[in-house]
Amino acid sequence: MIKKCLFPAAGYGTRFLPATKAMPKEMLPILTKPLIQYGVEEAIQAGCDTMAIVTGRGKRAIEDHFDISYELEHQIKGTSKEHYLTEIRDVIDKCTFSYTRQIEMKGLGHAILSGETLIGHEPFCVILADDLCDNNGGDSVLSQMTELYKKYECCIVAVEEIDIKNSNKYGIVDGDFIEEGVVKVTNMIEKPDTKDAPTNLAIIGRYILTPDIFDVIRETKPGKGGEIQITDALLEMAKHGKVIAYKFKGHRFDCGSVEGFVEATNYFFEKEK
Ligand code: UTP
Repeated sequence: MIKKCLFPAAGYGTRFLPATKAMPKEMLPILTKPLIQYGVEEAIQAGCDTMAIVTGRGKRAIEDHFDISYELEHQIKGTSKEHYLTEIRDVIDKCTFSYTRQIEMKGLGHAILSGETLIGHEPFCVILADDLCDNNGGDSVLSQMTELYKKYECCIVAVEEIDIKNSNKYGIVDGDFIEEGVVKVTNMIEKPDTKDAPTNLAIIGRYILTPDIFDVIRETKPGKGGEIQITDALLEMAKHGKVIAYKFKGHRFDCGSVEGFVEATNYFFEKEK
């Protein structure tokens, strides 16, 4: 039902400097695969076939990754190394990629608005590729959400329970459970201090958004950190009963932090060896 997936990938990735000086952090690999390829594979599994990528600097690396490298293909064709390209070839065959640039880094909400030109007027998924999710062979987190969308047809944010001490790193939601694992959102706060956090339900980098979000973002003033926050725009939508939070099944790694990145590397190494 939902065909397009937006990947905001324009952030500076300062926590990974100098690695991210000339390369977006979404190209950092967990084992041999860049973070953004894991994200694209998750989107394909959820039924998407159109990937819309919002880039900043380092655009070439992402574009080149999702393109055919004729020279490389020619070099390894018929050799024992050919299988290394099987997965990425499969990804390229299954979907199309389009790109736009976020000219100024004004926050995640602004990055999503920059993607409007690629999305148009239809519901869409959003993946922040630095949040790497795995559900051990079960439905991916985004698949669980697109399934839920069929029932509720409104904006959905994926949430997980965090240690409340870390509330200042996340958007936090509040609301009422309407079925197991599903909360009708009544309030959302971006990165609150622990004393101001209404719950420990933190938003992670998976969203389903309806296209009316674009008009709301356009009206959203800069919030926390002077950035245009998607959390603030979604709060506006929630006031009209249009947002639910979903406690997903699976594991999330915060690969935007060095600690989470190492944890993910160890996890996938154990899983794949
Ligand atoms: P982060 O908050 O992780 O910021 O962005 P960052 O700049 O990438 O990383 P640090 O904190 O400097 O290390 C969350 C997601 O939103 C995207 C990022 O690319 C990342 O996927 N983003 C953020 C944008 O695309 N544009 C922005 O202006 C801000």
